[in-house]
Amino acid sequence: MQEIQIGLLGFGTIGTGVAKLLMNNSALIEEKLGTRLVLKRIADLDITTDRGISLPAGMLTTNVDEVLTDPEIAIVIELIGGYDPAKRFVLRAIEHGKHIVTANKALLAVHGEEIYAAAARQGVEVLFEAAVGGGIPVLSAIKGNMAANNFATVFGILNGTCNYILTRMTQEGADFGAVLKNAQELGYAEADPTFDIEGVDTAHKLSLLLSLCFGTRVDFDHIHTEGISAISAIDVNFARDFGYKIKLLAIGKRDGDRIEARVHPTMIPVNYPLADVDGVFNAIRLSGDFVGPVMFYGRGAGMDPTASAIVGDLMDIARNILAGIGRRTAPLGYLEGRVKTLGI
Ligand code: HSE
Repeated sequence: MQEIQIGLLGFGTIGTGVAKLLMNNSALIEEKLGTRLVLKRIADLDITTDRGISLPAGMLTTNVDEVLTDPEIAIVIELIGGYDPAKRFVLRAIEHGKHIVTANKALLAVHGEEIYAAAARQGVEVLFEAAVGGGIPVLSAIKGNMAANNFATVFGILNGTCNYILTRMTQEGADFGAVLKNAQELGYAEADPTFDIEGVDTAHKLSLLLSLCFGTRVDFDHIHTEGISAISAIDVNFARDFGYKIKLLAIGKRDGDRIEARVHPTMIPVNYPLADVDGVFNAIRLSGDFVGPVMFYGRGAGMDPTASAIVGDLMDIARNILAGIGRRTAPLGYLEGRVKTLGI
């Protein structure tokens, strides 16, 4: 039986979750795919820290080229995060004919067009379900079963770290700095947590959602972005006294040939469904012209849910490899010559 070999770049919290999931559920994955997904090499600068899982000897390397250029590796998972060197490594992997799975919303929000153009030239896929909403399969739904719809609005809670901080401030009167530290320890926060608390991570995610929903390239620099660092206990208490909760929302609306896109703390009435989305959970509400409103809810950050989305993408690509299908339709908004030009 044919095996599909995988390389992993970045062995942090999420990389560890992916390795764990591929090992723990290998029999189930093989049964569903009819083939084995084999994690062949993992590249990271730190190959000595004990991540609590035992790996076959020789799997870890500090030499990224041993992953990027290995002819047996069909799919490369990029979990380094940030812009550089992630972009260089992804482009190099694509040059070598590898399919890409990434959770890197910052990279795709800023360099997605270039990465998609390179993937189109090589006939490989770039999947990124884990980049938005952690374990929630919202991008697959937009590209898949909901694809026949014109979307009018997409909004929701897209950052687990901020939602966790705001929830604990609301429920326990916890101190902002202490809860942020907890979120980092739990593996929710970005390497640079200012991306979380200043709303930048949410804006990256919103730009990806908007590109997929509206078929246009959306520059995240043009998204009005405010985070939660200025929210204090007084704000949270006043909101509660008036029957509201404060949530960091991402909001996108299409109005003709223009898109409204913004990220900011918002007072939500306590009886509105988004008000009950607490802790690390995310929720995304979309509205399509035929399907109507649809809401997604689940864990938006952390090792296990994010690993679930990544391995789901691996299985999706593996099915195409097994079926002999090259690259399928590119996500809307990144197809050369087919990008709608909508103002923002
Ligand atoms: N730092 C991100 C969050 C991770 O807290 O939502 C998941 O994208």
